[in-house]
Amino acid sequence: MNNPARYTVTSALPYANGPLHIGHLAGAYLPADIYVRYLRLMGKDVVWVCGSDEHGAAITLKAKKENTTPKAIIDKYHHLIKDTFKRLKIDFDIYHRTSEPIHYQTSQDIFLKLHEKGEFVVQESEQYFDEEAQQFLADRYITGTCPKCANPNAYGDQCEKCGSTLNPTDLIEPKSTISGSVPVLKKTKHWYLPLDKYSPWLEKWIDEKEGEWKINVSGQCKSWIKGGLQPRAMTRDLDWGIPVPLEEAKNKVLYVWLDAPIGYISATRQWAADNGKNWELYWKDKETKLVHFIGKDNIVFHCIIFPAILQAHGDYILPDNVPANEFMNLQGDKISTSRNWAVWAHEYVDELPGKEDELRYTLIANFPETKDSEFTWNDYQSRVNNELVATLGNFVNRVVVLTHKYFQGIVPYVNTATLTPWDHAIIDKVRASGKLVGESIEVFRFRDALNEMMELARVGNKYLGDQEPWKLIKTDEEAVQRIMYVALQCVAGLARIMQPFLPFAVEKLEDMLNIPIRSWVNADEEEWIAPGTQLGEAQILFTKIEDSLVAEQIAKLEASKAVTKSYDAVKETIQFDDFTKLDIRTGRILAAEKIEKAKKLLKLTVDVGFETRTIVSGIAEHFTPEEVIGTSVSVVVNLAPRELKGVLSQGMILMAEDEKGKLYFVGNDGVGSGFAIR
Ligand code: 2FM
Ligand code: ZN
Repeated sequence: MNNPARYTVTSALPYANGPLHIGHLAGAYLPADIYVRYLRLMGKDVVWVCGSDEHGAAITLKAKKENTTPKAIIDKYHHLIKDTFKRLKIDFDIYHRTSEPIHYQTSQDIFLKLHEKGEFVVQESEQYFDEEAQQFLADRYITGTCPKCANPNAYGDQCEKCGSTLNPTDLIEPKSTISGSVPVLKKTKHWYLPLDKYSPWLEKWIDEKEGEWKINVSGQCKSWIKGGLQPRAMTRDLDWGIPVPLEEAKNKVLYVWLDAPIGYISATRQWAADNGKNWELYWKDKETKLVHFIGKDNIVFHCIIFPAILQAHGDYILPDNVPANEFMNLQGDKISTSRNWAVWAHEYVDELPGKEDELRYTLIANFPETKDSEFTWNDYQSRVNNELVATLGNFVNRVVVLTHKYFQGIVPYVNTATLTPWDHAIIDKVRASGKLVGESIEVFRFRDALNEMMELARVGNKYLGDQEPWKLIKTDEEAVQRIMYVALQCVAGLARIMQPFLPFAVEKLEDMLNIPIRSWVNADEEEWIAPGTQLGEAQILFTKIEDSLVAEQIAKLEASKAVTKSYDAVKETIQFDDFTKLDIRTGRILAAEKIEKAKKLLKLTVDVGFETRTIVSGIAEHFTPEEVIGTSVSVVVNLAPRELKGVLSQGMILMAEDEKGKLYFVGNDGVGSGFAIR
């Protein structure tokens, strides 16, 4: 769409069940931030919405695993995620929540409108039911063997090993992840959106986007449509989510398709209410350009299912573009939350404060725009050191320092008629870069845009180096005035072009140049900082990344890999009464000896305060008898006695085991023997 009246930009609502990692940032948030910053600079009317997706099986599953409530999980992560975005200057107009009443109302209204228009097909079907837990199972709650690649840990909706989309009934030997039991099929009624019915217009619509949409996006859509679209259930039997607003749909909630993307609409409504705007213009006016930023796992969702919902409703506009990114890998491996193979955004900002732009820069340079890409700490180091420090930072710093040195920090006046062709070429390059960067951003080529920005820094840096004002200052002050004037124009123009990418550095540049940097480089401008302007003090924009930092970060990743392997699954929940049945006491080992023909066992004599016990412990392969004598220990003293290799054992010593199988005594800080541990 050329010259739209306004823009509605959305970024996929992250599930509020875990922190953000760099793959998220590179997928749907940083690209949108660049795009929106540019639009705002161009004076466009734009709203950019995002927020927490607080529903979904992943959240209830995590709550179950961690023995807590979904609410506790989402509250924690909503705030963490929102704060992390802010600390990276990923600057939404609103970061909303799908638990807000306005969202429930918006989703339910859209459901009801589709229902009244007769757009749903209500069908009874057989779904997996966990008889032990007495509940229907969301696709993610069922695991089994993938029929395509035999991966034994495939989910009911997808096999993460071969990438196949699955139905729960496709799984071989399905198992409920809630109780571990084999689920049974049970009849239930759901509201389906007949995607098959919309297939012809979807196909035509996607075809019209050919050439305009990214090839990876339209390609995936076409292959989906070609594979035949099936009706999709818009409701689920769950107790966590937005209730289906119909009498006959007790205990059913709206499925993700009628929840998360409608979150974009409810967020816009809230933003409009807060800012005196008319939300409907942003969602219903044909002159509005709607752009969804997402990762590739959400392509079908945003290019087929959500448009079908909007079209079926009838009042809404459809997305103009969906510039989905592919995935970003990390140090040669897929980013994985469960394996803790990730650079967590909140940890980055905690550990490397003041280096937010360095992360933004490296991610942008490696955006997975057309294919999967990779982040490595070595690449981060070389980009920061060679590009941000040695080129951009060095150029800016030299220009400001030299202006202070030669002209008391005042931008020199020059007679522009004296400018040389080389000088003009620099001024022209600033304008050309502004144009090229803008054009690339408009078509979602952020890597190209960033490269062009850096090219301008390179050109400016080379100009300064080649002109050598430090040699001329003794003989030709007029020439130096001219050179510094041109170099300062280049820095000021560059500062404007840096805005969408490096907002932290631009803040420093505002102080250094002592001018507001709030607009773009326009085609008819020749000067971006006025002669006579008194510059502020020079500041260092970027500092070198040392080898030790790279080594530390890589070691941290490797360590997390090892730690992840060590965690045992959390056992079944017990009640407080179960716990109080255990009588655990502090104790001390008085004597120890090997037991014949039992290479794993040691016979220990243990002081447990009120008496001395004999305890047989399976630690002989880890400790010699001599080294354990005198060790403070924790002992379960009410365990029924047991005979082991002819010795009666009267209790159990508590041990911790690390990821390599090494054992550690659970000590008692030397409080003395016999005290209760509770
Ligand atoms: O896949 C996800 O991360 C879901 N939370 C949905 C994101 S897209 C949406 F917001 F429409
Ligand atoms: Zn598979």
